[in-house]
Amino acid sequence: MSRVTELIDKLNEQKHLDKAEWVEVLENFTDEDREYAAGIARSISLGIYGNKIFIRGIVEFSNVCKNDCLYCGIRRSNTNVSRYRLTDDEIADCCDEGYELGFRTFVLQSGEDKSYSTERLCGIVRRIKAAHPDCAVTLSIGELEYEDYKALREAGADRYLLRHETADKAHYEKLHPAEMSWQHRMDCLKALKDLGYQTGAGIMVGSPYQTVGCIAEDMIFFESFKPEMIGIGPFLPHKDTPFRDEPKGSYELTLFLLSLCRILLPDVLLPATTALGTIAPLGREEGVKAGANVIMPNLSPTAVRKKYMLYDNKICTGDESAQCRGCLEARMKSIGYEVAVTRGDHI
Ligand code: 5AD
Ligand code: FES
Repeated sequence: MSRVTELIDKLNEQKHLDKAEWVEVLENFTDEDREYAAGIARSISLGIYGNKIFIRGIVEFSNVCKNDCLYCGIRRSNTNVSRYRLTDDEIADCCDEGYELGFRTFVLQSGEDKSYSTERLCGIVRRIKAAHPDCAVTLSIGELEYEDYKALREAGADRYLLRHETADKAHYEKLHPAEMSWQHRMDCLKALKDLGYQTGAGIMVGSPYQTVGCIAEDMIFFESFKPEMIGIGPFLPHKDTPFRDEPKGSYELTLFLLSLCRILLPDVLLPATTALGTIAPLGREEGVKAGANVIMPNLSPTAVRKKYMLYDNKICTGDESAQCRGCLEARMKSIGYEVAVTRGDHI
């Protein structure tokens, strides 16, 4: 038995490793260790969620963003982006179409676009919840203040995705302009949890300046914060950002981290992300085999999909929602899993 498999067993038994142990695992793992972790992770998710995969339909309703994150293709400095905003009716139509396709969770995602006031967003949430009372609404619209999160929660929003990006403050500051604050991001996550949102945190694997120490801190953060959802995908460069020449993140490390997250937090909702499907043709299937149990295809109108490019070569930008739905069904079937027509709440 290798030292890394010993530590994976320890993680599985105690749901805890200290920082030095995380670093040891992350620095020394082999393909066999990764498969070992995937085997444990997969049996945990099969035990809790069975062979059912939850799907969430993402509506990317605006690519306007006031922020300038160095990694992101829709950062405000990128003048090559053709900006768009969907109307309330267009957003509602995407959800209606999604409902017909069997989606019972809608994820409203956008840049930080202040033209959607909190009041307006509350109206959109209420409208979707009224039209589809059996559905969950997830928001992924960035950093707001406590009162905004509270109003949106009261309007009916169930879940919120806000990746912390990195638990290491100095690393965060290398990925974001000076006006953005790691502490504010962390405060937002805490507020979301306090307000009773099922809360998602997460990171990009292989973002510039990331060290194994950063990832160790991320795992320690996940252990204490206990997010209901964790979004992990590889960093992929975008040609119109300062990180255009940076190498992409490691596919294998991303898969390994999915497994480690599943082992650490057994019932966490863990998507096989679009970035994972972009870095490798069978990335999402391999993600599920490594312990993921959620897939989040796009429900945005085809006309705007190519405009929501956070990184180069994003998949599914030319496909209709119905095509993606069929495609995912077939992909999951090919590995022995089924798409579930349910909200897919955290237990
Ligand atoms: N590569 C991979 N993921 C990215 N994101 C943003 N830009 C990129 C990129 N270039 C991720 C961030 C963000 C989420 C919505 O998408 O982690 O939180
Ligand atoms: Fe979009 Fe396969 S999931 S085409």
